[in-house]
Amino acid sequence: MKNVSAIVLAAGLGTRMRSKTAKLLHPVAGRPMIWYMVAAARHVADAQVVVVVGHQAAWLRAFLEQSQSTCGPCETVLQARPMGTAHAVRQTRSVLMHKGQAVSRHCLLVNGDTPLLTRATIKRLVARHEHANATLTMLVSCLPDPKGYGRVVRGRDGHIVNVVEERDASHAERAIREVNVGTYVVDTPFLFQALEMIQPHNAQREYYLTDLIGLAVTRGCRVIGVRASDASECLGINSRQQLAGAERVMRQRIRTRWLRKGVTMLDPETTFIDDGVTIGRDTVLYPGVTLEGNTTIGADCTIRSWSRVTNSVVGKVVTIEDHSLMNGAVIEDQTTVGPFARLRPGTILRRRARVGNFVEVKNTELGADSKANHLTYLGDASIGTRVNIGAGTITCNYDGYQKHRTILEDDAFIGSGTQFIAPVTVGKGAVVGAGSTITQDVPSDAIALTRSPQVNRETMASRRRSRAQTVVRSSFPNKSQSSSRTGGQARV
Ligand code: UD1
Ligand code: CA
Repeated sequence: MKNVSAIVLAAGLGTRMRSKTAKLLHPVAGRPMIWYMVAAARHVADAQVVVVVGHQAAWLRAFLEQSQSTCGPCETVLQARPMGTAHAVRQTRSVLMHKGQAVSRHCLLVNGDTPLLTRATIKRLVARHEHANATLTMLVSCLPDPKGYGRVVRGRDGHIVNVVEERDASHAERAIREVNVGTYVVDTPFLFQALEMIQPHNAQREYYLTDLIGLAVTRGCRVIGVRASDASECLGINSRQQLAGAERVMRQRIRTRWLRKGVTMLDPETTFIDDGVTIGRDTVLYPGVTLEGNTTIGADCTIRSWSRVTNSVVGKVVTIEDHSLMNGAVIEDQTTVGPFARLRPGTILRRRARVGNFVEVKNTELGADSKANHLTYLGDASIGTRVNIGAGTITCNYDGYQKHRTILEDDAFIGSGTQFIAPVTVGKGAVVGAGSTITQDVPSDAIALTRSPQVNRETMASRRRSRAQTVVRSSFPNKSQSSSRTGGQARV
């Protein structure tokens, strides 16, 4: 027999969130709450982890399926109607009891809405349960404001005798500050036996899991409470305010984690790092930096203020200047990006490549030592090594129906203000003159120019000026010259 199985309760309506999204899919530091619960349960359990789903079951199942590689595998069972936490747990019987035999000695039960609960605390709970040889071990916490939680009722001798939900509590019971966190370790055979005896005799007409405690105590079973070392771990999220509270705590924990690992943050309070992010040593984050999703940042990077990096891979010794956005990009060692750059999905910057201000890059590889430093759009392009792209270059990749590629081979030199009407290829070492509109392939080592010849008309500018001044004087004889110069659009 295995030691610990786990049940995560996730079938509730989450009405107090007032949301069209299932409560447990709301993210905390970039991951849906349910992710943390399943990952923590998986960490502790050696037997099955079962998630009870109901409200928006399809969405939860889809999320859990796609997250297996990060939070670990689990099974799901359906609670067709949310009839209470005990009713939810009962739905797992078919998975955790085989022919009257429990699949595990103990069962860990967690609410789906306590994402701040740490693995260490859950491990401690299991260890205490085993050490005390208890039938039921529950996590408890003393809160200054216990509103909304089930209160832990203790007898004169200090032993737990019951848990009373707030709605069913007497005035005196409501004054109790010791609360039920909703995390329990229970002897598995006892759990499934006792669940059959729970009745919905309470204010909400629901099957309360908390009735297990009274039941165990009346039968003379050993029930113990383990105090959480940090009350913030116990926050159950029922409302948006509580969600915001959890977000704050989780963000702080993540920052502490990376500060300890050797990341510098000039202003930790304004630095936002999702749970799925990793950061190398000696990287410096300036105020207002956001690192989101599944992002990896290498060592010795500098990321300046108000830049946001999402689902990207950043190499070592990279500089990201202020106000740059990056999503779905891979940028290699020693690259430089920004300020005010936008790297969209499919961007690859090879070593030492540089992308400067007001440059947008999408689905494009920029080769090693290549540069696009100013005011440029590179979409659907393959750019070789040591290519210099002048200011204001645009790949015209879209014809209104389809996207086309632009290929710029190694050592090409692209003059400023060039447009590439894709599909088009510029060969190795070729030069494109500034202001060109390239519609045909350019052979290697050729120079391509599409500008119309320049015309200089000597003295024309001064003649035009005197003509204009005569017209102004005859129309507005009393107006000064200077005021007439400031208005109107220039026309040549
Ligand atoms: C529950 C506890 C309360 C404890 C608090 C801690 C009960 C009766 N009460 O109250 O003592 O202090 O958690 O946060 O257990 N769920 C289902 N099916 C249902 C109902 C709920 O799966 O029919 C799930 C929810 O999705 C949620 C969890 O169970 O993840 C807890 O439900 P919730 O309604 O939030 O319980 P609380 O009122 O917070
Ligand atoms: Ca709750």
